[in-house]
Amino acid sequence: MKSIVCVSPDWGIGDGAGMLYHIPGDLKYFKEQTAGHTVIMGRKTLESLPGGKPLPKRRNIVLTRDRRFRRPGIYVCHDLQELQELLAALGEEEPFVIGGGEIYQMLLPFCDSCLVTRVKEKPEIQSTVFFPNLKDLGWKENKKSALQKENGLSYRFTEWVRP
Ligand SMILES: NC(=O)c1ccc[n+]([C@@H]2O[C@H](COP(=O)([O-])OP(=O)(O)OC[C@H]3O[C@@H](n4cnc5c(N)ncnc54)[C@H](OP(=O)(O)O)[C@@H]3O)[C@@H](O)[C@H]2O)c1
Repeated sequence: MKSIVCVSPDWGIGDGAGMLYHIPGDLKYFKEQTAGHTVIMGRKTLESLPGGKPLPKRRNIVLTRDRRFRRPGIYVCHDLQELQELLAALGEEEPFVIGGGEIYQMLLPFCDSCLVTRVKEKPEIQSTVFFPNLKDLGWKENKKSALQKENGLSYRFTEWVRP
């Protein structure tokens, strides 16, 4: 399992309703990395997507504790065990965890790598949701792209692995 995330300098990821930055180059990267794969997200992240709709060209799994929750084109799981059973039944070995804060936190122990887009500038929006600080947890940054510049922001695509 792999997480993919875009973070501010202090590992902020959102304000609860949306993301902190609008970076088309990062959205393109996200699409390229996850296309054709299974993505796992929390119910709040699903609500933050355009129209609350699943991401096209990917198998979408949503975690919620709401037993009545149903949406077209979405697999629903109510806890970790159900998620593990579903992934096994689907034969899915390399799913992507795509957020948000609660789900990243919950599934980090099952991830062997994380694709982290690191933005250098502080966001204009105050972040209230955070990704675990991988540096503090002893993870190693083993790949990093050249500095990308766009919309007055600078960022790198990085990959982190467990120590
Ligand atoms: N920067 C990025 O790359 C990135 C990526 C994705 C999201 N985000 C941001 O992250 C924020 C949302 O994150 P969040 O932490 O508030 O919400 P979230 O992780 O997207 O979803 C939380 C919801 O997931 C369900 N859930 C959590 N733990 C569960 C469990 N153990 N079993 C079953 N269901 C479980 C619950 O749904 P119910 O309440 O329905 O029970 C819970 O309310 C937004 O601001 C979004 O824009 C940023």
